[in-house]
Amino acid sequence: MFENFSLWPEGASSVARDIDALYLFLLAISLFFVTVIVSALLVFSVRYRRRPGHHASPIEGSLPLELLWTGVPLVIVLFVFVWGTRVFVRTQTSPLEAMRFHVTGKQWMWKIQHPTGQSEINALHVPLGQTIELTLISEDVIHSFYVPAFRLKKDVVPGLYASLWFTPTRTGTYHLFCAEYCGTKHSAMIGQVVVLDPADYQQWLDGRPSDKNPVETGALLFQNLRCDTCHSSASGARGPDLAGLFGSDVPLAAGGSVRFDERHVRESLLEPSKRVRAGFQPLMPSYAGQVSEGDILALIAYLKSLPPARGARR
Ligand code: CUA
Repeated sequence: MFENFSLWPEGASSVARDIDALYLFLLAISLFFVTVIVSALLVFSVRYRRRPGHHASPIEGSLPLELLWTGVPLVIVLFVFVWGTRVFVRTQTSPLEAMRFHVTGKQWMWKIQHPTGQSEINALHVPLGQTIELTLISEDVIHSFYVPAFRLKKDVVPGLYASLWFTPTRTGTYHLFCAEYCGTKHSAMIGQVVVLDPADYQQWLDGRPSDKNPVETGALLFQNLRCDTCHSSASGARGPDLAGLFGSDVPLAAGGSVRFDERHVRESLLEPSKRVRAGFQPLMPSYAGQVSEGDILALIAYLKSLPPARGARR
């Protein structure tokens, strides 16, 4: 729709269609009422203008009229509310199956890692027609990941994971902006999203130095940081076995439970004594300053990949 209409930004994702349709509807409704109201205003100003021999007779109120102009807008705004909520929920809910990319924002660049390990800066190459999910975090201040052609914008906040998903629907090169003022070179924190045919994407990947993928990097870190000396399935281990826990709720020493997710892993690395697992002592040292946001994302990818160990002690 509107491919040749240059006032309309190009749309290149599945999300863009939903958002454009909603926006067009709002535009159409607004135009309709502007036309009706302005026309009535003009007609009435001429027809009921002040003239000698004519006197105004005030109207004292009309129930049917009141009901009409309360009821009609109510129905319209509720319709828009329900439609908007559906689009919002759909765009905010992570898909089950997706290619998962890691995005780290820092002054003043976007660092991106592909699920197969390749990384790039201020550019994101993706295959056409695949569902892509981005996990985003900032290393310093608040940035905002903004791709107008995809109708996507998400604040990227230090200490918090955000996620975004989309399915690119057209090949091409699209703008990537930082949309949150983040310091002197905010305006230079730009890049591009390149949507390639799957074959071309594969070729692009093959032409890149292939780093370890995040799961491999995480596994290596898990050994190098000596996480495995405590977190093992051996009986009497000083830390809980972490295999297969991702996404489940785990009990805490202080009572209650916590969802074992990205956020909990990050917090446990940086502030391990904040939420200690039930049945364990607060022995773990903090890894703050020793691990980068990229390292933490790799450790998370590794923990996500672990199947539950059989007979594991939780
Ligand atoms: Cu990063 Cu503005």
